[in-house]
Amino acid sequence: MDILSLTSFLIIIFSKVSNALDMISPSDSLADGMTLVSSDESFELGFFTPGSSKNKYLGIWYKNIPIQTVVWVANRMNPINDSTGLLKIETTGRVVLQGQNRTIVWSTNSSTEGVGNPILKLLDSGNLVVKDGDSENYMWQSFDYPTDTMLPGMKMGWDLRINLSRRLVAWKNPDDPSPGDLTYGIELQGNPEFVIRKGSVKYYRSGLWNGDGFSGSPVYRSNPVFTYDFVWNEEQVYYIYLLKDKSVRSRVVLDQTKGERRRYTWNPETQTWNLLSAFPNDYCDRYGVCGANGGCDSSKFPVCQCLKAFKPKSPERWNSSNWSQGCIHSKPLNCQHGDGFIKIQGVKTPDATHSWVNKSMDLKECRARCLQNCSCMAYTSLYITAGTDSGCAMWFGNLMDVKQHQSNGQDLYIRVSASELGMETMEKRKAVGSC
Ligand SMILES: *[C@@H]1O[C@H](CO)[C@@H](O)[C@H](O)[C@H]1NC(C)=O
Ligand SMILES: *[C@@H]1O[C@H](CO)[C@@H](O)[C@H](O)[C@H]1NC(C)=O
Ligand SMILES: *[C@@H]1O[C@H](CO)[C@@H](O)[C@H](O)[C@H]1NC(C)=O
Ligand SMILES: *[C@@H]1O[C@H](CO)[C@@H](O)[C@H](O)[C@H]1NC(C)=O
Ligand SMILES: *[C@@H]1O[C@H](CO)[C@@H](O)[C@H](O)[C@H]1NC(C)=O
Ligand SMILES: *[C@@H]1O[C@H](CO)[C@@H](O)[C@H](O)[C@H]1NC(C)=O
Ligand SMILES: *[C@@H]1O[C@H](CO)[C@@H](O)[C@H](O)[C@H]1NC(C)=O
Ligand SMILES: *[C@@H]1O[C@H](CO)[C@@H](O)[C@H](O)[C@H]1NC(C)=O
Repeated sequence: MDILSLTSFLIIIFSKVSNALDMISPSDSLADGMTLVSSDESFELGFFTPGSSKNKYLGIWYKNIPIQTVVWVANRMNPINDSTGLLKIETTGRVVLQGQNRTIVWSTNSSTEGVGNPILKLLDSGNLVVKDGDSENYMWQSFDYPTDTMLPGMKMGWDLRINLSRRLVAWKNPDDPSPGDLTYGIELQGNPEFVIRKGSVKYYRSGLWNGDGFSGSPVYRSNPVFTYDFVWNEEQVYYIYLLKDKSVRSRVVLDQTKGERRRYTWNPETQTWNLLSAFPNDYCDRYGVCGANGGCDSSKFPVCQCLKAFKPKSPERWNSSNWSQGCIHSKPLNCQHGDGFIKIQGVKTPDATHSWVNKSMDLKECRARCLQNCSCMAYTSLYITAGTDSGCAMWFGNLMDVKQHQSNGQDLYIRVSASELGMETMEKRKAVGSC
């Protein structure tokens, strides 16, 4: 190799390296065929064509993974059908994606006045951000507008200060990133819990956060891959997970075809994604299969049983495995003359839509408060972390979507007629007698 060809060889090498930019400024643009690469080379941003589609999308995928795994799509509803795609950041900080004839196919809403030096940068986390020079404040970030994938460090849920909801919407199918009808996000009616909907219909619920996890899923605290947290205050309500070992790749994706929220971890040896967990996980995870006041237990046959002290509303239908009518109290309640509560153990908490919580009440106060209110049908401790129960959750009206766990799960105290319980009645009499 002579000096000249060695030099040009090195130029090619170095230009390849220097091509791997992780940001653009208003004087640059990113055309189809070019990419941004995060500084640690974890993620890449560019134009891609999914599966058998002929369309072009701007997206982010894992770099150095042979299976194209897209984690974010900009123009999911507005594909480009040729190679004219061009990504730019304007001096206002607004990011625009242009297609044929420079028509804008996608843009961000960020256009703040007084921006000095806006840049668009792909971070090592896979977050695409707009910021002003070296400032760490993001004017816009792709983590606020997820598509179907939740990456480590993403806050899945609500920023109540600006009414921003971050949730997952599945791809229609592997060839088409446009929105399918499967969604996954925190719903705030009653108390916050994760809900998967198929269209407008509830399909899966996580149950309430109990300090260790969600009452509808196993506790993952001791897993080797990730840590997690749930933040719930006046300003924010979100779930977040972080990797224990940064070299591990793990993602949560909402899959329309499977109808599941799935967590995968990359296996470098086999060069495949390993499935770590999936929800719904079994028949009993399907929303409301046993009807109102029914409990679902996959170890029983049939899987649906009325909750303790309840009986089928329609015995004929119930006996023929039609559980849609659910269950009613075996003995009618009599709120004025005293009801009681019985404990059922190890369950996923009922649908939170008609529920109420107080984070500082203890279980005794919780019981008293529930007993006072004739439409309160169940209560329990909100937090059960490390056996120190605290907080109060109560439910009004029918108890929907209760699942019986084989292990873990929460205790639930359900309102029953005092005649179901000798003890409760005696307690009541004593209380009355001492007045
Ligand atoms: C490509 O999209 C443009 C509109 O964005 C449309 O006018 C044109 O017909 C499309 N071309 C093909 C080959 O589908
Ligand atoms: C793009 O511009 C050309 C030339 O002006 C025009 O013929 C064509 O219809 C335009 N296409 C679209 C999709 O607007
Ligand atoms: C822009 O704002 C609108 C309405 O506030 C919102 O629906 C849309 O998702 C936003 N788009 C982006 C890319 O942030
Ligand atoms: C908050 O956003 C939701 C949709 O995400 C909308 O239905 C609701 O009206 C918004 N509330 C306010 C106060 O803007
Ligand atoms: C339903 O099944 C139970 C248990 O087999 C039986 O006792 C009951 O009579 C049946 N009820 C009806 C209405 O078929
Ligand atoms: C179950 O019963 C309901 C009425 O209670 C009826 O509408 C429904 O069609 C029945 N489902 C099946 C599968 O038979
Ligand atoms: C929650 O419980 C605490 C302690 O019992 C009480 O002081 C507080 O008023 C309650 N909050 C509400 C909103 O009921
Ligand atoms: C019982 O609780 C429900 C739901 O929070 C509330 O609407 C109702 O006013 C309460 N009733 C009494 C008597 O406190």
